[in-house]
Amino acid sequence: MTRGLFITLEGGDGSGKSTQAELLREWLTGEGRTVVRTREPGGTEVGVEIRELVLHHRGDISPRAEALLYAADRAHHVATLVRPALTRGEVVVQDRYLDSSVAYQGAGRVLDPGEVRRLSDWAAEGLLPDLTVLLDLDSAAARARLDVARTRYDRLEAEASAFHDRVRGAYLDLAAAEPDRFLVIDATRPVEEIAAAIRERVRGLL
Ligand code: TYD
Repeated sequence: MTRGLFITLEGGDGSGKSTQAELLREWLTGEGRTVVRTREPGGTEVGVEIRELVLHHRGDISPRAEALLYAADRAHHVATLVRPALTRGEVVVQDRYLDSSVAYQGAGRVLDPGEVRRLSDWAAEGLLPDLTVLLDLDSAAARARLDVARTRYDRLEAEASAFHDRVRGAYLDLAAAEPDRFLVIDATRPVEEIAAAIRERVRGLL
């Protein structure tokens, strides 16, 4: 049984997840909650090594191998960090989770999204977030933001805009399928407005 609160942030590269996760962490801490701020891939020591491999390996990684690497990162992260924190009653605020796998490896790489979801469910022993914030941004706007922020792209960021369009479409489909779990926000809105919308939803869950 978990007692804490599990909040994930999803969205394309450059949609502002980290900024919002940080603002949420600050607010929750001010409300007296113990917050664990983490991310996938790379939320554990093992995960940091998987992250380096999956994002910066120079050669090809086959789509199924890529899906398994993200799932391996997730399995270890949930087992050793996320679930223990939830059991202690803490709030976990996390950049990316299984919806990223369904969107990027499922729709982006054109694996079967249902299979990718089942793989993640197995890896995470069925752990689902209480709330998933989707910061929705079209791929052209996301690319423009990344061009300002990055000197080099990782393997997924470097994919063509058709890939990122599929990812965005998959995210919106996921949100439509699970409206109770998702909060969809237009990522072009001002940062503080987005933060306030997230706080309002989270307040109802505390
Ligand atoms: P992230 O660290 O969030 O990068 P950014 O800050 O640029 O958004 O994620 C790294 C990349 O990994 C990102 O392009 C999305 C991808 N990813 C997947 O393809 N599948 C997954 O399951 C996860 C968690 C991430």
